[in-house]
Amino acid sequence: MSKKVAVVTGSNKGIGLSIVKGLCKRFDGVVYLTSRDEGRGKAAVADLNKQGLHPEYHQLDVSDRESISKFRDHIQEKCGGIDILINNAGFANANYIDFSYDFEENKKIIDINFKSILTI
Ligand SMILES: NC(=O)c1ccc[n+]([C@@H]2O[C@H](COP(=O)([O-])OP(=O)(O)OC[C@H]3O[C@@H](n4cnc5c(N)ncnc54)[C@H](OP(=O)(O)O)[C@@H]3O)[C@@H](O)[C@H]2O)c1
Repeated sequence: MSKKVAVVTGSNKGIGLSIVKGLCKRFDGVVYLTSRDEGRGKAAVADLNKQGLHPEYHQLDVSDRESISKFRDHIQEKCGGIDILINNAGFANANYIDFSYDFEENKKIIDINFKSILTI
């Protein structure tokens, strides 16, 4: 039977990175560390490798449809699907609309924290 697949969004740092670490230690399957910035993501993977942990890596910006499509195609081809999705990516401390922000800032919060959950 093929291995189960877990994907953690926004996992180059913070809670997402800790979840990847925990899954690598406890989950008997494939764990994907994903990040919007490839450099930051690969640096996080290199750090985990030094600790003896070996997640897979793929770029994924949850607010970018093209990036989501590329990741979907990759997962489809390599694994056939996802068993566990941890929708961690977010704009911390900005889970609300702040009227002192300008339109673009508020749009970014909506795209990352809310719309991405519908798209992913
Ligand atoms: N920490 C708390 O006390 C707390 C409380 C309640 C809820 N949360 C939620 O828990 C989650 C993680 O929090 P955290 O404290 O670990 O936050 P964090 O340290 O700011 O990490 C957020 C992660 O999300 C990534 N991210 C942001 N926009 C993205 C996008 N468009 N596509 C993909 N990844 C993106 C960031 O990437 P970059 O490094 O590229 O920016 C980073 O890796 C967030 O959703 C946050 O809202 C946190």
